[in-house]
Amino acid sequence: MTTDIKPGDVLPFLNHLLETAGQLLMRYFRGELRITLKDDREGAIDIVTDADRASEDLILETIRREFPDHDILTEETLTEKSGSRYLWLVDPLDGTVNFAHGYPVFAISIGLMVDGSLVAGMVHDPLRQETFSAFRNGGAFVNGSPMQVSKADRLEKSVVATGFPYDRAFCPENNVAEFSRVVTKVQGIRRGGSAATDLAYVASGRLDGFWELKLKPWDMAAGMLLVEEACGRVTDLTGQPTDVYTRSIVATNGSIHDVLITELCGGAE
Ligand code: IPD
Ligand code: CA
Ligand code: CA
Repeated sequence: MTTDIKPGDVLPFLNHLLETAGQLLMRYFRGELRITLKDDREGAIDIVTDADRASEDLILETIRREFPDHDILTEETLTEKSGSRYLWLVDPLDGTVNFAHGYPVFAISIGLMVDGSLVAGMVHDPLRQETFSAFRNGGAFVNGSPMQVSKADRLEKSVVATGFPYDRAFCPENNVAEFSRVVTKVQGIRRGGSAATDLAYVASGRLDGFWELKLKPWDMAAGMLLVEEACGRVTDLTGQPTDVYTRSIVATNGSIHDVLITELCGGAE
């Protein structure tokens, strides 16, 4: 893949955009929120708030103003594709359920693909004022300092995280079986409620691994690049190379990758 885009063309822009969107989210956090269900089936739990929409409007408007020819794939708004080489993948608020409950784990995540390959990614946590960033072949950083995955080499010394899909009550592919296989094998297991934050934490060595079954491109784009650029490993649930459209993801420090996949898939023969 050849790209004429350079870190300096994208990262300062993203930094400023995520900082601004983060300030906007903080004005909503623990305040009065309008909460709407996205799905009207009985038992549905997938919600959107006016904070998600306001953050998304701000991000869409800013990218369109700066890069009017680029395409954007974002969670809450249908956008038209022009066939541009450049595609921005936007999650304006990752961790909406946490946010709606005042639970302090959420982030904004933006990735950029050029010709179908991830080139830049940034995840911003406005509560902790932490920004995780990466540019392809340029390493990964937290607030500007280089970051790397952890060194844990055994599951029993590892803390891993996961998440459960919104359709878990209706759909058997709901991660409950995988969760119950792994929970007894690791030192700790977490369900943070923000996949972008989980991936940023794998990249920064705070978690040793993460998996989830049904993520969307905007959940994973930035975080996948963070983990890869922090010298970690990212595959699908069968250990095959993955991309933002594959949905299932296993992201680890590399050392526990194969053994985590073995447990997820039912344990050693
Ligand atoms: C969700 C979060 C959650 C994950 C879900 C995602 P949202 O994104 O990342 O941790 O388990 O699968 O959909 O809806 O808060 O943007
Ligand atoms: Ca999300
Ligand atoms: Ca979201």
